[in-house]
Amino acid sequence: MSPDFRLVEPGGPLRGRLRVPGDKSLSHRAVMLGALADGTSHVRNFLAGADCLGTIRCYRQLGIRIEASGEGLESAWTIHGSGLRGLVEPSDVLDVGNSGTTMRLMLGVLAGGLQGHACLTGDESIRRRPMGRVVEPLRTMGARIDGMNHGALAPLSVRGGSLRPVRYVSPVASAQVKSAILLAGLFGEGSTVVTEPAKSRDHTERMLQAMGADLEVDGLSVAIRGGRSLSPFDFEVPGDISSAAFWLVAGSIVKGSDIVLEGVGVNPTRTGVLDALRRMGADIEEQNPRLALGEPVADLRVRHAELRGTIIEGAEIPRLVDEIPVLSLAAACATGRTIIRNAGELRVKESDRLSAIATELGKLGVVLREQPEGLEIDGGTIWRSAEVDSQDDHRMAMTLALASLLAPRSVSVRRTRATDVSYPGFWEDLARLR
Ligand code: S3P
Repeated sequence: MSPDFRLVEPGGPLRGRLRVPGDKSLSHRAVMLGALADGTSHVRNFLAGADCLGTIRCYRQLGIRIEASGEGLESAWTIHGSGLRGLVEPSDVLDVGNSGTTMRLMLGVLAGGLQGHACLTGDESIRRRPMGRVVEPLRTMGARIDGMNHGALAPLSVRGGSLRPVRYVSPVASAQVKSAILLAGLFGEGSTVVTEPAKSRDHTERMLQAMGADLEVDGLSVAIRGGRSLSPFDFEVPGDISSAAFWLVAGSIVKGSDIVLEGVGVNPTRTGVLDALRRMGADIEEQNPRLALGEPVADLRVRHAELRGTIIEGAEIPRLVDEIPVLSLAAACATGRTIIRNAGELRVKESDRLSAIATELGKLGVVLREQPEGLEIDGGTIWRSAEVDSQDDHRMAMTLALASLLAPRSVSVRRTRATDVSYPGFWEDLARLR
């Protein structure tokens, strides 16, 4: 294989129109829920990145027929759902690659919906990430799951069986934890209730409701009654706001930029990045609001603006949890200091992102201090060129690529193939906008 690094040249402005790839969270859910529907679902603008293709691979191993036709934006995926009791025992290990969403949500589905046994594993990063946060509540429902370190880590093994409803109060605001329990609750008899400390993304709830599930939301609690069959759907996956975030920040910090991002998902549980950037002075307009399978969608136009520091903390964190790497770059370009608190969850993402941000942006001249659960970032960076490393984390790779636009000379970014996890076509889109 060719060496995995890129030399990124400085410069701008960034101008043009783009359609960012389909939302990662929604693409995973479209496969997982489409598989459980009674009938055939059709999905367009599916994110054909490594993570979501991994979900497709796993569901094919579970006996679900999934077909693709066409390429890129024109591609359409057909998922032949086989109902709540249609999954078949896989004859080999299910490999989720780098995808925490696949592993955690699938555990909930398999614990209640599989007649038989399955083994789940993934890459080196996924085998370090905490799985006890879903395994433990699922066990209280009667799930039979075991694995490394008593089930705290993958590889994990699960034997499907009947589950009882629970009321679970989650200590973390995590959509993956909430969704794993709700999906398990689909198979239990009676009402399963999950309460979270702050609202995390609610895509599972919206999609299940659109499919006819018996699900109710009451503030920070969600209740689901098991046993009701699910209807198939036609869905055009909105663009991923977590991918759009790279251009929202790049358009804001690179002088002369003007970018329109078409068809971006603007579900309020995901738009923390818009709120934070606007507080910092960003010029972002929302145009043509619409809905897709209960998900709000809009076009976003961003133009260069002078940014100022802000505070990001508390209930806002889950609404922008994946955007903190690129928001740190915005903070480095702002005037004044930005403080990010209550973000300890970043330590258990694809990399330890608090440490990765501090180390890698630090090499490029950003003055920042890593805290146990956050960052303090001084604005007004005097950029320098250096060799940086994505730490094999897709969102770090893209953040570092955009930071390189501001450096005095080209920057060498190592391990850039990681971008394929959520944004195949990132480098082409960057070239198109320059
Ligand atoms: C996701 C939830 C978030 C997010 C991840 C995708 C999802 O993780 O970071 O990229 O699709 O449910 P947590 O639920 O662990 O916060």
